[in-house]
Amino acid sequence: MSIKNSIMFSLGQNDNLAKSVSNITKIKLGRSHLNHFADGETLFVTDEPIRGKDVYVIHSTSKPVNNSVMELLISIDALRRASAKSITAIIPYYGYSRQDRKAAGREPITSRLIADLLQKAGATRVLTFDIHSQQQQGFFSIPFDSLTGIWIMLDKFMKNRTSENVCVVSPDYGAVKRSRSISEKINAQLAIVDKRRPKPNQVEVSNILGDVYEKDCILVDDMIDTGGTMLNAAKLMKEKGAKTINIIVTHGLFNGNAVQNFNDAMEQKIIDNIYVSNTIENTILPNKAIIIKIDELLADAINVFANENACGSMSSIYSKYKYSKEFN
Ligand code: R5P
Repeated sequence: MSIKNSIMFSLGQNDNLAKSVSNITKIKLGRSHLNHFADGETLFVTDEPIRGKDVYVIHSTSKPVNNSVMELLISIDALRRASAKSITAIIPYYGYSRQDRKAAGREPITSRLIADLLQKAGATRVLTFDIHSQQQQGFFSIPFDSLTGIWIMLDKFMKNRTSENVCVVSPDYGAVKRSRSISEKINAQLAIVDKRRPKPNQVEVSNILGDVYEKDCILVDDMIDTGGTMLNAAKLMKEKGAKTINIIVTHGLFNGNAVQNFNDAMEQKIIDNIYVSNTIENTILPNKAIIIKIDELLADAINVFANENACGSMSSIYSKYKYSKEFN
């Protein structure tokens, strides 16, 4: 792989990110179009020569999720049939990753299904950010990396702060590993919200394990969808005496009334601020959300791939971030 032999395509969900990464890496951003037939079928079109090239396709499988998934698969299929040497699918937000196990009988494992489809279509490598759970690496038989954008956000958040009086709060049991890693890294306390989800998009919180009283709390998660998880956790934390509440989240989906609800919570001084990355671009964010860009981290990862012969290490790309540490 080499930068000179590489070309990148953006399929519409991450056009700004793709432009920026192309500027940093100097990989050409190829022209392509996704056309749609009257019934909704997708056609990927490019005039760029592909034969023998290392191709990068950037597309978050975010809203509309099913369309985005098909657009990505169809593009990969086209690139494979055009004799690309390698195809790296860069999926900043990997939709369907929440269904990573059968939580109840007769449920699907959609994350595995998408992994199979990506490989079947012709992807030779997959790169994403803060996938819902790290064990999903095992769904792939090709190289797979989930970069931790959370560290960049933590770096920005902790700038000019100390961890004295800080409590890292996990909004549910699923996020405990991630939150514990962060609390250890910044030497802060850890608390866990006891969250239950009776059905999709419904959240119940009843208790907090740990002490948030008079603490400067950081609520950390991989994603905000409807906001139910974070908003309910924040309200309960405020009731339990939390002094400040800042949210750090990689993927800002902000569906339903999420934006309005977060704006209200910030006006009512329940939430102080939201730090969110730019893995999802086509969305409306709450007024005071602070966007932290992952562009450089992604460009550094691509540079490692492109210089494979130089034995570049993926963990080296985090060295410039003070609070970096891989999750396991
Ligand atoms: C679930 O386990 C995820 O990590 C998020 O906590 C969840 O998907 C957020 O969804 P919502 O914002 O709708 O509560």
